[in-house]
Amino acid sequence: MAEPRPAIKFLNFPSVIFPLLLLFLRASGATASDMLITGGNITDGETLVSAGGSFTLGFFSPTGVPTKRYLGIWYTASADADAACWVANLDNPLGKASGVLVLSSTGGLRLLDGGSGQTVWSSNMTGASASSVAKLLPSGNLVVQEQNNSSAAVMWQSFDHPSNTMIAGMKFGKNLRTGGDWSLTSWRAQNDPATGAYRRVMDTNGLPDIFTWQGDVKKYRAGPWNGLWFSGIPDMDSNYRLFSVQMVEDSDEIAYDLNAIAGNPFTRFVLDEAGAVKLFMFMTSGWTNFTWIPADDCDEYAKCGAFSVCNAAPTPQCNCLQGFSPVFPSQWAQSDTSGGCRRDEPLRCGNGTAADQFKLVNGVKLPDTHNATVNMNATLEQCGAMCLANCSCVAYAAADIRGGDHVSGCVMWTGDIVDVKYVNPGQDLYVRLTKSRSATKRGTWQQSCFQLWQLYLYSRPLPSTLFGYASFRAKRRNKDIVEKAILGSSRAPNDLGDENVDLPFVNFGDIAAATNNFSEDNMLGQGGFGKVYKGTLGQNIKVAIKRLGQGSGQGVEEFRNEAILIAKLQHRNLVRLLGCCIHGDEKLLIYEYLPNKSLDSIIFDATNKYLLDWPTRFKIIKGIARGLLYLHQDSRLTIIHRDLKPSNILLDEDMSPKISDFGMARIFGGNQQEANTNRVVGTYGYMSPEYAMDGAFSLKSDTYGFGVIILEIISGLKISLTHYNGFPNLLAYAWNLWTDGKTMDLVDSCLSKSSTRTEALRCIQIGLLCVQDNPNSRPLMSSVVTMLENETTPLLAPKQPMYFSYWGAQGAGENTSCSLNNMSLSSVLEGR
Ligand SMILES: *[C@@H]1O[C@H](CO)[C@@H](O)[C@H](O)[C@H]1NC(C)=O
Ligand SMILES: *[C@@H]1O[C@H](CO)[C@@H](O)[C@H](O)[C@H]1NC(C)=O
Ligand SMILES: *[C@@H]1O[C@H](CO)[C@@H](O)[C@H](O)[C@H]1NC(C)=O
Ligand SMILES: *[C@@H]1O[C@H](CO)[C@@H](O)[C@H](O)[C@H]1NC(C)=O
Ligand SMILES: *[C@@H]1O[C@H](CO)[C@@H](O)[C@H](O)[C@H]1NC(C)=O
Ligand SMILES: *[C@@H]1O[C@H](CO)[C@@H](O)[C@H](O)[C@H]1NC(C)=O
Ligand SMILES: *[C@@H]1O[C@H](CO)[C@@H](O)[C@H](O)[C@H]1NC(C)=O
Ligand SMILES: *[C@@H]1O[C@H](CO)[C@@H](O)[C@H](O)[C@H]1NC(C)=O
Ligand SMILES: *[C@@H]1O[C@H](CO)[C@@H](O)[C@H](O)[C@H]1NC(C)=O
Ligand SMILES: *[C@@H]1O[C@H](CO)[C@@H](O)[C@H](O)[C@H]1NC(C)=O
Ligand SMILES: *[C@@H]1O[C@H](CO)[C@@H](O)[C@H](O)[C@H]1NC(C)=O
Ligand SMILES: *[C@@H]1O[C@H](CO)[C@@H](O)[C@H](O)[C@H]1NC(C)=O
Repeated sequence: MAEPRPAIKFLNFPSVIFPLLLLFLRASGATASDMLITGGNITDGETLVSAGGSFTLGFFSPTGVPTKRYLGIWYTASADADAACWVANLDNPLGKASGVLVLSSTGGLRLLDGGSGQTVWSSNMTGASASSVAKLLPSGNLVVQEQNNSSAAVMWQSFDHPSNTMIAGMKFGKNLRTGGDWSLTSWRAQNDPATGAYRRVMDTNGLPDIFTWQGDVKKYRAGPWNGLWFSGIPDMDSNYRLFSVQMVEDSDEIAYDLNAIAGNPFTRFVLDEAGAVKLFMFMTSGWTNFTWIPADDCDEYAKCGAFSVCNAAPTPQCNCLQGFSPVFPSQWAQSDTSGGCRRDEPLRCGNGTAADQFKLVNGVKLPDTHNATVNMNATLEQCGAMCLANCSCVAYAAADIRGGDHVSGCVMWTGDIVDVKYVNPGQDLYVRLTKSRSATKRGTWQQSCFQLWQLYLYSRPLPSTLFGYASFRAKRRNKDIVEKAILGSSRAPNDLGDENVDLPFVNFGDIAAATNNFSEDNMLGQGGFGKVYKGTLGQNIKVAIKRLGQGSGQGVEEFRNEAILIAKLQHRNLVRLLGCCIHGDEKLLIYEYLPNKSLDSIIFDATNKYLLDWPTRFKIIKGIARGLLYLHQDSRLTIIHRDLKPSNILLDEDMSPKISDFGMARIFGGNQQEANTNRVVGTYGYMSPEYAMDGAFSLKSDTYGFGVIILEIISGLKISLTHYNGFPNLLAYAWNLWTDGKTMDLVDSCLSKSSTRTEALRCIQIGLLCVQDNPNSRPLMSSVVTMLENETTPLLAPKQPMYFSYWGAQGAGENTSCSLNNMSLSSVLEGR
């Protein structure tokens, strides 16, 4: 290995010259060394630069404190003096630019005050020798190792001694070999690295969990590690797309590794001076930051005291668990909830028929497990039995949820249950109660679905918890908050907060009875969001019942959309929602039953297709267009369906079409023209290019889907087929027939007798206009309806749909739907 080049010498630059210095470094093309050899030193003004240049080690002064000098490592591209990822002499700043970092064969790394010769910081390591080197690795880790021996043990590394910052490559947790921690300690202020008030540490009593401590007081808690994430940070999954996280639990350590994902911006987590964890991303414009923890007020440790649960939306709210009441009711009523809750009735403790039961509280961040018993061998059922058999056990939950339904291991609580919060997706917690307290209490069930939904938002789970607290119902909420909660802050305001939705609530028992306990025989279809059953309610009213996915969090969004949105819409070309039901985890929607199933079960079926003559098909096309027009502009709202396809078009006994499945619909505000989503949902083939590619959706995305449906209705060919007389897909095929003047060849041969040439040609032309690549070229549904209904309306010539036509048939196969969330997107109302 070449003799390390001497570090470039600069005079003592104050930190304000950082940017200049960095510019100079780059402009001059000079490269600093990445290592310090034994006997060498680095003085203030000199730097080490990691191979590749990402990180720099050197001396700096925090913003506004030019008199204090620190040795640190920072991301080279950043000119921010407060953005150091690691600092050596945190509590011992040098008074002037006289610092010297030396590597000695006896003491390892030492930072000396060049003036007095005093040591202000030392790596305090053993094992250094004359052939040791300190090297700044491309990850930003400064390691001391034997030179020329990559298999030699690391004697010391900066990643083992984090300051307030965590970056990719670092560990967080317990080092069982040394007994030390990989933890974070806050700075005293943004520009003062001295030891601050907060520490973020992993606790490995019980299940691994992360606490932010303010002195000896717990401030925030991440929640027990459940095999996939820390229970209270389910968005770790998505936030950590910036990183990948790997938990290691062996005899050496219980810690997680934070690994970078290629292509992401450089990101650092900082435990800031107020105890929050902030995420800083380096973008072209500099650092962008946001607060990651706390996510909301419910993150405040034990905010609601014992045996309670905190609900963050729409405003933080504490509720006692079912079977518990506030210890100090009057304080509780005044929002001083720290006293927590106590049991209404003492446990019977395995006393014959009076034995206790468990009440499922779902969708939560699990309680503090510091004093809990963990048994990784037991199944959840065994756990329940063990807990029941032990008088001091008050609750249990799965310890590892990686197995999905077959969770393994469990955790059992004996003392208080503290710091529970609703999260999504959350976990199931089984709380021990006496039989009488665990029975579901029934209130008056005369609420409409909409009211129920509001309550649902404030107090999950439903209805057991909810109806235990009559006071809840008494509280009237601010309409704006309700709207926000329902629509999410990103969505446009509209009048959905209006409480006059009259959607009957149907008793779960009645639904179970109507569907023969959800028997297979009653099933009409199945989709990603649940199953659809046929049933008969009341006086022989035939209904279709959609049972949204069970389990915490599942189908909530779809339920929200359908129950609140569709209840407001009434049009003969939209399927009618008749009622709904919320029962514990169950979310059910009740629709009118349409005997003739869905469009795809007819037009694509070799025998059924003969049942649909041209006049009927034309009627269907016009009906869908009117239904869409209503959604887009004639209702009080502007609604984009986003998942139009033949399986979502149902047919009534007169073969009138009804658009169904609004689980993905979006509401637009008054002047909103376009929106963006990074969760592209829909079905491949019916998604417009701009939506499929960029997530941009507008009214014209629905126009596109409608165009595809017209072409399918006329041709009887599926967009997802792969052979079209040599063309890659239906659009290319249709376009070629159109340009060759053979448009009529597209018409399904089973229609030859009944088709009216001019009508069919107009429809094909309208279809082609609707599938044009440029959304601005596609007509609005109002024009489409006019074009369809008034045959003298002149039609424009369509432009060639390039994008999907020649994109190849790959990916267009059967059942290919595009979703970033692994949701299957097929309709749930289609017939079998
Ligand atoms: C390390 O290797 C380089 C060449 O690869 C050599 O010049 C140098 O002397 C070696 N140093 C030690 C301490 O062995
Ligand atoms: C740092 O190294 C220089 C030679 O590069 C040497 O003259 C100086 O004495 C060293 N300083 C310390 C404190 O070791
Ligand atoms: C250095 O390490 C030893 C044990 O490894 C420890 O006892 C001592 O307190 C440390 N000194 C400093 C200054 O950190
Ligand atoms: C490199 O380090 C390993 C582990 O410490 C040691 O076993 C080996 O002898 C060393 N090799 C050389 C060439 O020093
Ligand atoms: C975080 O970003 C905000 C603006 O978004 C800025 O005002 C603030 O200073 C930043 N915080 C830090 C610590 O850089
Ligand atoms: C068991 O239940 C009976 C009747 O409910 C009661 O008299 C008895 O005290 C209970 N025993 C215990 C240990 O709770
Ligand atoms: C654990 O037990 C100790 C001692 O009884 C108690 O002080 C502490 O609050 C308990 N912690 C939790 C989270 O229950
Ligand atoms: C769990 O099972 C493993 C293997 O079956 C066994 O070695 C271990 O001792 C068990 N642990 C407990 C706590 O029962
Ligand atoms: C009940 O659970 C506690 C806490 O896990 C434990 O200390 C105690 O031994 C258990 N009692 C029985 C009878 O298993
Ligand atoms: C439905 O299930 C319940 C409880 O499992 C049972 O009592 C009832 O008889 C069942 N009804 C039908 C129609 O199968
Ligand atoms: C549509 O439903 C009606 C009434 O159930 C039935 O008479 C008719 O045959 C059905 N048509 C088709 C095409 O299934
Ligand atoms: C049909 O369209 C033509 C040309 O745009 C227009 O003159 C006529 O009034 C329309 N007819 C109806 C019934 O709207």
